[in-house]
Amino acid sequence: MKKDCAYAAADLVKDGQILGLGTGSTTHYFIEKVGMRVRDEGIEVMGIPTSFQSSLLARKWNIQITSLDEHEIDLAVDGADEIDPNFNLIKGGGAAHTLEKIVDYSAKELVIIADDSKLVDVLGAFPLPVEIIPSSLNPVTKALEDMGGEVKIRMGKAKDGPVITDNANFILDVAFGKIENPISMEKELNTIPGLVENGLFTEMVDRVIIGSKDGVKFL
Ligand code: 5RP
Repeated sequence: MKKDCAYAAADLVKDGQILGLGTGSTTHYFIEKVGMRVRDEGIEVMGIPTSFQSSLLARKWNIQITSLDEHEIDLAVDGADEIDPNFNLIKGGGAAHTLEKIVDYSAKELVIIADDSKLVDVLGAFPLPVEIIPSSLNPVTKALEDMGGEVKIRMGKAKDGPVITDNANFILDVAFGKIENPISMEKELNTIPGLVENGLFTEMVDRVIIGSKDGVKFL
């Protein structure tokens, strides 16, 4: 289902476009299919990756890499951890949401691709990822707890150290329960000193493409 929606998004890409390349297992298929179109159809595109992971994959598929210093993004395609009926998102399951937000926000068009398990009525079952400056761990944790969050630092797979982001920061996963007002919460969270960026993405999505057992749906 992830592959189906990602391949459908890749078919929207036009020759000459500058692409924002999201991060995760769904966008992996998007980058792969764009790479196939570069190879098989000879389309010329450039990509602005949102992580080292996406950058390496794009290079593997001979997608030229550029940056926001040089180009504006025509179309960004990214995944999500939760999507509400107003297309507000929780992102950051892959610890890449800070750069994803910069890239997605600056794109002329933002398309989100996901399997149908990501559709929710209200955001919040998925703990909200926030990226923080490591030395701010204690005060940021306290501020998030004061807002009603249950805070866990994200540990690496071996559990012997925290996940370190591409920006050399930590990730906190914060369970707030139902997030009834994601638009104001996104702004409020970013006022905490030491908190670099939170995983709420509100009012920026143009289109959602969902993979489901019944096929691909364009919302
Ligand atoms: C990375 C993200 C991902 O887009 C999100 O976690 C979805 O990942 P996947 O496509 O693997 O389900 O926000 O920071």
